[in-house]
Amino acid sequence: MPDDASTLLSEIRLHGAVPRHVAIIMDGNGRWAAARMLPRPIGHRNGMKSVREVVEAAIEAGVEVLSLYAFSQENWQRPAPEVSALMSLLEEYIAREAAELERQGVQVRFLGDLSRLAPAAMQAVNSVTAKTAHCSRLRLNLFVSYGSRAELLDAIRSIAEDAASGTLVPDAVTEATVSNRLLTAGCPDPDLLIRTSGERRISNFLLWQIAYTEIYISPVLWPDFDRRELYAAIRDYQQRDRRYGRVTA
Ligand code: IPE
Ligand code: IPE
Ligand code: MG
Repeated sequence: MPDDASTLLSEIRLHGAVPRHVAIIMDGNGRWAAARMLPRPIGHRNGMKSVREVVEAAIEAGVEVLSLYAFSQENWQRPAPEVSALMSLLEEYIAREAAELERQGVQVRFLGDLSRLAPAAMQAVNSVTAKTAHCSRLRLNLFVSYGSRAELLDAIRSIAEDAASGTLVPDAVTEATVSNRLLTAGCPDPDLLIRTSGERRISNFLLWQIAYTEIYISPVLWPDFDRRELYAAIRDYQQRDRRYGRVTA
C-alpha cells in the first residue's frame, strides 16, 4: 500500500466513525479513454481495476456495505456496441473475481431490472450471488440496469396493491413500509455517497435512500480512482457534522 494511503487508513482508524455504507457513482470511464484517444470500452475495462481496489480498501477500512452504480436504466440508451461491451465486462468481472470475492468474505448482490440482462450475464450474476451468499465481511451491492424512480414505482405499486386488496390500510404506511419494498431492503441508508469525475448530479441513484447521506464529489475519473482516493473521501466524511436538521450539541 502506498505511504499516503496507509497514513490515511491509520487516521481513519484513529477517528473511529467509519461510514457503515458507502455508495459510489462510478463515472468518467469514457473521458478517461477519450483523453488517451482510446475507445470508450477501454475506459470501462480500466474501471474494473478500480472496482477491485475499492472493494479491498473498503474491507480494510471496515465499511460494512459498498454500493456501486455500474449501469443505469438510462445507460441502455447508449450505442449498442458500448452496451454490449459493458455487458461482456460484467461477465468477465464475475468470472475473474468470483473466487477472490468469496475468499475475501464479500457477499455480492445485484440490484436493478435484471430481466433485461442477456441469459449469459444473468447466469453469471446468479452464480456469483449464490457462491458468496454465505459471506459476511462486506456486502457489495452492484447496481446494474438500475433506476431509482423505477424502484420507487415498484414499491408504490406493491403498496397500492396491498391497499386495494385490504391487507394494508393507508394509515399503516410508514417510511419502513417503503424502505422494506425497495431493492435495498435490509441495508442501512448510505452514510457517504461519492461521485467521481466531478459531475454534480445524482443521475437517478438511490433517491429515497440518500435523504441524509453526506455527498463527496471527487474530480478523479473512475479508472484513476484508487484506495487513496477512497480513504480521502472517508477522512473528509469523518470531519462532517451530521445534524439531521437539529442543532449541534
Ligand atoms: C461511467 O463512465 C460508467 C457508466 C456509466 C457505465 P461513463 O461511461 O459515463 O464515462 P463518461 O461520463 O462518458 O466519461
Ligand atoms: C451515472 O453515470 C450512471 C453510472 C455511473 C452507472 P452517467 O454517465 O450515465 O450519468 P449522466 O448521464 O452523466 O447523468
Ligand atoms: Mg458518465
